[in-house]
Amino acid sequence: MATQIENATVQSSQPGLGAHGAVVGLQWGDEGKGKIVDVLCEQYDVIVRYNGGANAGHTVIIGDQKYALHLLPSGILSPGKLSVIGNGVVIDPAKLLEEIDGLATRGVEVGDNLRISDRAHLVMPYHKLQDALMEAALSAARGDGKKIGTTGRGIGPAYADKASRSTAFRVGELYDADHFREKMAYVATIKNAMLKALAQVAGAEFEPINPDQLAEQYLEFGQILQPHVCDTTKLLHDQMAAGKHLLFEGANACMLDIDHGTYPFVTSSNCSSLGIYPGSGVPGGRIGRLVGIVKAYTTRVGGGPFPTELDDAVGQKMRDQGHEYGTTTGRPRRCGWQDLMVLNYSAQICGATELAIMKLDVLAGLDTLRLCTGYEVDGKKLDCFPADASVLERVTPVYEDMEGFGEDVTKCRSFGELPAAAQRYIERIEAFAGVPVSTISVGPERTQTLNR
Ligand code: GDP
Ligand code: IMO
Ligand code: MG
Repeated sequence: MATQIENATVQSSQPGLGAHGAVVGLQWGDEGKGKIVDVLCEQYDVIVRYNGGANAGHTVIIGDQKYALHLLPSGILSPGKLSVIGNGVVIDPAKLLEEIDGLATRGVEVGDNLRISDRAHLVMPYHKLQDALMEAALSAARGDGKKIGTTGRGIGPAYADKASRSTAFRVGELYDADHFREKMAYVATIKNAMLKALAQVAGAEFEPINPDQLAEQYLEFGQILQPHVCDTTKLLHDQMAAGKHLLFEGANACMLDIDHGTYPFVTSSNCSSLGIYPGSGVPGGRIGRLVGIVKAYTTRVGGGPFPTELDDAVGQKMRDQGHEYGTTTGRPRRCGWQDLMVLNYSAQICGATELAIMKLDVLAGLDTLRLCTGYEVDGKKLDCFPADASVLERVTPVYEDMEGFGEDVTKCRSFGELPAAAQRYIERIEAFAGVPVSTISVGPERTQTLNR
């Protein structure tokens, strides 16, 4: 009985179910999630990454300072907020420490405001090697040079080991040195055999892993990171019970989701909002506000189908005006028209309650703006988003053309100040998606954000 009363008290002190928020990309990444997390931060107490690893590159611009975050939640830049790297993230400790040190030299505090899950998995140097060798081996074995075009950050192999179980390492294992050294010895035996064979297919040189050296290096990383490591599942539940508001920051994006994206040209985690629950330990039903981030046009990095891609001067104009080069790898991003088939599908999968339309300024100066409102294959209209990437590869987009706007919109500060053609473009996207557009971004800075 007493327990029941205690629980009831805890429940009533929590914000209502649905009081928490999430920011998730609805295209193929780089929509501007970092900027929106930074803008929304002030309304939340705890910012949580739940998926991906150092494949992400989230840009935040504060005043004249530009930050590129890979593993750290964007909340780390906002004083007074707690940043959490959840269990669903795969952590390359060398990269994480580099990121923390980089921020420290710029006066950004990373101390008690960062917590790292002891259940998160570790990315090892051999995961990055395996990532590169697999891409090279695939390309060589296929003979046509085609590959996924990964970021090379070891993400796929680290998640594959997580699913395989016996060769994976979690952060918590760094705190039992004898166990870690012993396990590294036998894992290295297995990995060396595998990588040697893979290198042969790829036609590459291979230097075997030295398990002793690697174990010592990782144990040292573990010591440095120890003050941040805890059971973040418990922490998040405690925070919710104490009335704190959580904001989940998606890395990568819905169309790169391993189950719901354009498989196999995806990343290796559930980067739609569906990954929040397994990747943080917070159950469904807690998130009432889900902000779907979508560029005013579309970009993609790496291989895979992209129906509205523009391999012409308009695509190049988007790349030049939008500075569409990868935050993580520097690769030029593929650019194309807004694809409402993608948007409708991903908004549905993610349960978007509102949309933030980013980089509207980049479209200024185009006479016509095209919106893809349907796909046709072999002369037949598809009635849903195709599950098979090879079908998506063959679709012909059906376009609706809208009048463009010539004016610079970077100084607009309200929806009403936007040129009429820009307003109609936003309204058309909103009507097709059936989700309200709450935010429009007209430049990379905090102040260049319009609320509706
Ligand atoms: P994320 O991975 O989703 O966080 O996005 P990235 O940071 O990889 O890429 C988005 C890029 O667009 C960054 O360079 C941002 O500074 C920039 N950006 C964000 N919003 C806007 C905008 O409205 N207009 C322009 N021109 N740039 C923007
Ligand atoms: P943010 O969080 C854009 C893409 C890669 C590649 C595929 C698989 O900045 O939006 P991986 O290294 O994950 O195995 O690569 O996924 N990719 C991204 N593209 N933005 C990202 O993250 C991405 N994360 C992965 O380019 O095509
Ligand atoms: Mg990015």
